[in-house]
Amino acid sequence: MAHSSQHHDPSGAAHHGHYIIPIKVLGTVFGVLVFLTVITVITSRIDLGAMNVPLALAIAITKALLVVAFFMALKYDNAVNTLVFSVGAVFVLVFLAFTLADTAFRGSLGIMDAETVADQQRAEEALRARDPGAALVAAATDTTAADPAIPVDGSAVFATYMCNTCHTLDGAASAGPTLQGIGSRQTREEVIQSIREPDAIIVEGFAPGVMAATVNAFGFANVTDAEFEALVDFLMEQN
Ligand code: HEC
Repeated sequence: MAHSSQHHDPSGAAHHGHYIIPIKVLGTVFGVLVFLTVITVITSRIDLGAMNVPLALAIAITKALLVVAFFMALKYDNAVNTLVFSVGAVFVLVFLAFTLADTAFRGSLGIMDAETVADQQRAEEALRARDPGAALVAAATDTTAADPAIPVDGSAVFATYMCNTCHTLDGAASAGPTLQGIGSRQTREEVIQSIREPDAIIVEGFAPGVMAATVNAFGFANVTDAEFEALVDFLMEQN
């Protein structure tokens, strides 16, 4: 009786009187709370992965609602109080959701296991195989370069380090002696020495120091072993 009259009374006149909650209801709610606590303890020992926190929260919220509704008698109280409580609870949930959206996914971005890295490399290789242009770009930008399978062109090395600004290959005169027939005039060791130590033996009619001073300025100090070998091969072919 008291229940229905209080519940539906919009005037608020009867609100100071306490609704006496039947002991049976209190007992049931208490049983449910104990049951939920047991569930919480059990689930805390099982790893449910991503569900760990949401499940614990859901149980905790259910318990809090039961306490508020029955033990604090909000269920039998003014609807306005329920509304105020609900609005507060909704905001708590919103804040929790945003926090969880951050903390729950921390570290899941940017971490790649070895398997993923290998997958990406395979994908890149497949892409290169399909697209030769991409392969060329990849090779050009790959500073570890010097794939031994790709032969270095000695005549290109000769041009790259600007040997051709002083040396012709056809007997014509230039700042340095023509390298026409150098492969028959010199042994491989002599050619190597002529390049590595230009001033060790000076060709008649030419000044020492000229080549030595220049080649390194043309970047020859950075010549790779493969380039140097190809260059010597190329010169030995001039006969
Ligand atoms: C600035 C001009 C100049 C440049 C650049 C230059 N040389 Fe020379 N080179 C000379 C001169 C001058 C001589 C002759 C004097 C000497 O023997 O050192 C010479 C000599 C040589 C000789 C010995 C020739 C012989 O008949 O014995 C070889 C081989 C040679 N150069 C190779 C090269 C190569 C390879 C390059 C590029 C990496 C190069 N030179 C760059 C000026 C140059």
